[in-house]
Amino acid sequence: MRRAILTTRPLWILLLMVAAVTGGRVENVEYWKQYGDSRLYKSLTRENVVGHTKNVIIFIGDGMGMSTITAARIYKGQLAGKSGEENQLAFEHFPTVGLSKTYNVDKQVPDSAGTATAMFTGVKSNYYMLGLDSNAKFNECDAAINEKSRLDSIMTWAQAEGKHTGIVTTTRITHATPAALYAHSNSRDWECDSEIPPVFRGCTKDIARQLVEEEPGKNFRVILGGGMRQFGIQVDPGTDDSCDRTDGRNLLETWMKGKTNYLFVNNTADLMSADTTKVDYLLGLFGPGHMPYALQRDRGPKGTPSLQEMTSQAMKVLSRHREGYVLMVEGGRIDHGHHANYAQMALHEAAELDDAVAYAASNTNPADTLIIVTADHSHAFTINGYPNRGNDILGYASKSSVDVPYETLTYANGPGFYTHLASNSSNCTGSLWRVIAEEERKQATYRHFSPYYLGDETHAGEDVPVYSSGPSSHLLSGVFEQNYIAHVIGYSACIGPARVYCSDDNNVGMLRSHSGSTTVLPTKILLVFLLIFTLVSKNRR
Ligand SMILES: *[C@@H]1O[C@H](CO)[C@@H](O)[C@H](O)[C@H]1NC(C)=O
Ligand SMILES: *[C@@H]1O[C@H](CO)[C@@H](O)[C@H](O)[C@H]1NC(C)=O
Ligand SMILES: *[C@@H]1O[C@H](CO)[C@@H](O)[C@H](O)[C@H]1NC(C)=O
Ligand SMILES: [Zn+2]
Repeated sequence: MRRAILTTRPLWILLLMVAAVTGGRVENVEYWKQYGDSRLYKSLTRENVVGHTKNVIIFIGDGMGMSTITAARIYKGQLAGKSGEENQLAFEHFPTVGLSKTYNVDKQVPDSAGTATAMFTGVKSNYYMLGLDSNAKFNECDAAINEKSRLDSIMTWAQAEGKHTGIVTTTRITHATPAALYAHSNSRDWECDSEIPPVFRGCTKDIARQLVEEEPGKNFRVILGGGMRQFGIQVDPGTDDSCDRTDGRNLLETWMKGKTNYLFVNNTADLMSADTTKVDYLLGLFGPGHMPYALQRDRGPKGTPSLQEMTSQAMKVLSRHREGYVLMVEGGRIDHGHHANYAQMALHEAAELDDAVAYAASNTNPADTLIIVTADHSHAFTINGYPNRGNDILGYASKSSVDVPYETLTYANGPGFYTHLASNSSNCTGSLWRVIAEEERKQATYRHFSPYYLGDETHAGEDVPVYSSGPSSHLLSGVFEQNYIAHVIGYSACIGPARVYCSDDNNVGMLRSHSGSTTVLPTKILLVFLLIFTLVSKNRR
């Protein structure tokens, strides 16, 4: 008896210690076995939602690569008072995951214009190019070449089938990711007329004008994001360094022309009080350039809305339409946080995107709505070291006894270099890196470590995950080129070139056109005959 108490006591003391460290969870052998078993059950009983969809919502986390997703999962879990690692983001519950190869036709590591063009038109293109194939020239407009290089996006396909369309972003609505849905431009920078080199101003319209004057942009039912200056609205630019119009156009007036039941809003209260049962066209511009980072936004009624708030209003307007809709939602500032080495800012933006996904997932039916969550590209961002379970994801990975500890989240390059450099004089007496006070490290604009100075941290080139649920989402599994995403959207929604497969439930037409037996065999026979003929005629000579 006494003996039993003696031998079991260390065990429960250990369990208590584990519970203290893990915040009450007991992750014993039984826990992991049960997890494995229930996950197995979930996989075995999963049934693919085959067939076609009515609605499509595609979420783009700009720059939200795998390391960002893992860190955001932990960050969001820790904000909820948990250890973090065991947390699951809303889109991590989706049944299908695939990997998308993000390179541009001309770049090993891509930019957002080339990648958005791939995802939204089904054709990969060059770095910095929007809605034009790789035959078009960068930064040079040639009307004849552009005409031949024009690519239609999923929005054009959707409108041709009578679906309603919309875009929501935290960046300027003329920024690369949304622009690839409606613009054709030799440079993503041509957002205002003033940005186009004067010699090309007669050859092409700036991106903002293409949005309100051309198909498919002028037909969008919902446009929510930043970018008042690009629209020619008089506004105090503050710290925004984007562009102003010099042609005197007011594109807000152009947008209103010919529309009925439209509403323009520029703050949270007006967006959230919009009568979404009546409004047919909703335009919201929240700020001169990009919308503020979520951690810095004004949360009051006169402030700027969250991505989830914009998504919910967009879905309410679009879902009234019987023929369905295609909506793109971008968490665009994950990318900007990373470019500045602001790890906390980037993770918070990713968590905000996840809130928007959670709203969409719980307010749609997987039987009639395809939801895709992916990134256009990754960032040079790592989760490194051996920090303990539950360690602050924004904290140090190394032991506190080290003179200058290193952080769990670091970058391969970027402006964080000078934040950490101890001295600019090259003497070898002290440490290269300084110790940074906790107060400074807690700031949202604190830059994480980078060993190589660049004013802007760079993108990264590894594949990004694609999470999906809804009709035909199982087609987005495996490893594929990024442009395949548009083909699956087209197939699932019966829009665009893949629409031809839709009238045919068993995909007979597709299977026939892809099976080699009818075309390849005669060609092979012909080649063999040619070879014999050549040999025979050679021997004769
Ligand atoms: C916001 O919209 C209101 C009403 O349409 C307008 O009076 C106000 O000037 C706008 N604010 C900005 C910054 O454009
Ligand atoms: C070193 O020089 C850079 C660039 O001029 C500057 O931003 C940084 O603050 C300097 N660092 C120190 C420790 O003096
Ligand atoms: C040399 O480096 C140490 C440690 O960074 C610093 O304290 C010291 O001021 C530097 N000396 C000179 C002459 O710059
Ligand atoms: Zn970027």
